[in-house]
Amino acid sequence: MKIKYEVKKIKDIKADVVASVAFEDQAGQKLHWLNTLFKGHLDTLIETDDFKGKSNTSVITYLHMDNRSKRLLVVGLGNSKDCTLETRRKNYAAAAKKVNTMKLNSVAFEVPDLALIRSVTGYSHYEIMQAICEGVFLSQYNPKKYSSKNEYTPINEVIFFTDSPKYTREAGDAVKDSKVVCDAVLVARDLENEPSNLLTPDKFAEYVKKSSIKAGYSVTVFDEKKIAQLNMNLILSVGKGSVNPPRFLILQYFGANKSEKPVVLVGKGVTFDSGGISIKPAQGMDQMKMDMGGAAAVVGAFEAIARLKFKMNLIGLIPAVENMPDAGSYKPGDVIKSYSGTSVEIDNTDAEGRLVLADALDYAANYKPKAVIDACTLTGAAVICFGHLLAGLMGNDKELTKKIFAAGEKTYERVWILPLYDEYDKLMKSEIADIKNAGPARQAGTIMGGIFLKKFVQDKYPWAHLDIASVAFGLGESAEDYHTTGATGYGVRLFVELLKQYSH
Ligand code: BES
Ligand code: ZN
Ligand code: ZN
Repeated sequence: MKIKYEVKKIKDIKADVVASVAFEDQAGQKLHWLNTLFKGHLDTLIETDDFKGKSNTSVITYLHMDNRSKRLLVVGLGNSKDCTLETRRKNYAAAAKKVNTMKLNSVAFEVPDLALIRSVTGYSHYEIMQAICEGVFLSQYNPKKYSSKNEYTPINEVIFFTDSPKYTREAGDAVKDSKVVCDAVLVARDLENEPSNLLTPDKFAEYVKKSSIKAGYSVTVFDEKKIAQLNMNLILSVGKGSVNPPRFLILQYFGANKSEKPVVLVGKGVTFDSGGISIKPAQGMDQMKMDMGGAAAVVGAFEAIARLKFKMNLIGLIPAVENMPDAGSYKPGDVIKSYSGTSVEIDNTDAEGRLVLADALDYAANYKPKAVIDACTLTGAAVICFGHLLAGLMGNDKELTKKIFAAGEKTYERVWILPLYDEYDKLMKSEIADIKNAGPARQAGTIMGGIFLKKFVQDKYPWAHLDIASVAFGLGESAEDYHTTGATGYGVRLFVELLKQYSH
């Protein structure tokens, strides 16, 4: 997709369609202004009163123009008072999707008066432009890449235009940066949506190797022998039932002095979760190809941060495994010693995510990190708790939690904080080992996942745990505006927004 930011008058735009925008409370004025400019071509639209400026609505009208856009799409932005970053994302996404249905190649989007929005909302010009871009770019995703009937027509050229030269630098930067971040979100969606026969732990590692070269970070991959040598026995055990052996990926990005402590991101990379011997019911099991949503968010974040050249050091740890039932599988009742020597009794082989994360979180301590944030599709209980609106956030550090919460509000990859009170610890007690991997059924399922991980982190570093099972996929009917069916790519924008604060 080609992208331009131009300071131009609407009459001078050359594109297959030009999209002008109007707030609901100013729709009449805007239409009259356009009508004067286009010499009465909007007479009928005004007469029929078909456009009221409501959010997520648009109408197409035609212009008798030579050498300029013959199509005018008038896009509603809703009430100017309710103008949040999220409504900007949604409205522009709706308009971009409309252009897809019209099967047009190029579109020029009018950028509304940034100063006016700023005075109402307090957001910077950069932030408003970023939200507009996110709406457009994130809406351009084709989830049906394996369908032989390709009905999707992507937009090939996007122009953002305004007739005011005032904010060109800020807005231009926002366009460039957003493209990088949104491309990374689309990569995360692609990885998550990839069927597990095509994306095994090894193939995942191969993808990351290629990605690292293109984006400018490095990666080391441990195979099953190295994983065994290092005593990462939890990762090894979860992977035992699969013909596709596990991998442990270490991503490294140095944007600051090497002596500066890194932030570590940890992502659950279960390329398929059948449940193992504690096998899952058939219904919905196909979705478990997306049980590597946390890992996808980490890879997306690395691609974006390396390309944006953040001035910080970042480590990514990804245990990539397939959880399958087999004669060689690990079993309920087994006891396994973790990388750090903690003994774990297996209560349920379907609680595999916390096992592979435990070894990774233990390993993270080797970096003496500033902060560690894990992202994982860990518990079905997160869906029960939040629906598909929010991710569960837990941790041992109030400052870090606050920062993530704020980044969630801003990006609209929202989170809600759950407690990890010590009183919960006893629910995970084992009679024969240091801890078991599941608590009693139907009690605080999402918190139990966090309580298990807390045992490995203790207070070794500031830590936050994001259970993204509720938001990584499953939007179904509500996959509107800039969301699509299947994977959401949740976490990439949240990580980038959070990590901005560590870049200096
Ligand atoms: N990958 C699943 C969690 C999941 C469920 C993610 C639905 C997204 C949608 C995880 O490995 C799992 O199976 N967790 C168990 C834990 C239980 C056995 C303690 C669960 O949630 O039932
Ligand atoms: Zn599971
Ligand atoms: Zn899982």
